[in-house]
Amino acid sequence: MFITFEGIDLSGKSTQIRLLTKYFESEKKKVISVREPGGTGISEKIREILLDKEHFRMEFLTEFLLFSASRQQLTQEVIIPHLKKNYTVLCDRYYDSSAAYQGYGGKVDLKIINSINKIASGGLVPDLTFLIHISIEESLRRKKLINKREDRIEQKTVSYYRKVIKGYMDISKNNKGRFVVIDGTDPEPLIHVKIIQAILNHKKRKLK
Ligand code: TYD
Repeated sequence: MFITFEGIDLSGKSTQIRLLTKYFESEKKKVISVREPGGTGISEKIREILLDKEHFRMEFLTEFLLFSASRQQLTQEVIIPHLKKNYTVLCDRYYDSSAAYQGYGGKVDLKIINSINKIASGGLVPDLTFLIHISIEESLRRKKLINKREDRIEQKTVSYYRKVIKGYMDISKNNKGRFVVIDGTDPEPLIHVKIIQAILNHKKRKLK
């Protein structure tokens, strides 16, 4: 299975990926987790370019193409080979992030985004995508709590993030078959249980 996690910054994706990895390991299942942008030598270098605060003049289309280059490398080098070996692959962000951030947030034409997303992913579509939803206010509150240093993309404005959230909502409605939207303000253990239930339900549906 290929499972992706989406949501704005500090929605709690990485915690859930950690918990889910442990769950699969305890079930003696083969599992790996990767993150975007990154996950390969080349993709980590692209990540540095993308998140570097000195690159404040980066165009949204440039941003999108770099994310896509990183994604293509990660998909071919890590994701597909592991899926072929029957691993469950958990991915912290995938192409829906590009549609939400660079498409809805940055106004790159969604037709261009969707067609390059198909190319960069080699046609791979996640079996399940968990959208962990929190509001921009909640994200800012959490940022203050942990005093997080912002990278270049996180320095964008509140109105940008509102568009990203709206984008995620639209994308999840247009892809109901694979999206599971989860309230990110629920306690972490409850979110974890909801995620496992959704995975088990998905497996049951596939067996039918
Ligand atoms: P990261 O530190 O990994 O943030 P997070 O823990 O929230 O995932 O930085 C990734 C940043 O890149 C994040 O702000 C979202 C952004 N991003 C895009 O704008 N488009 C994309 O396609 C991807 C994969 C990420």
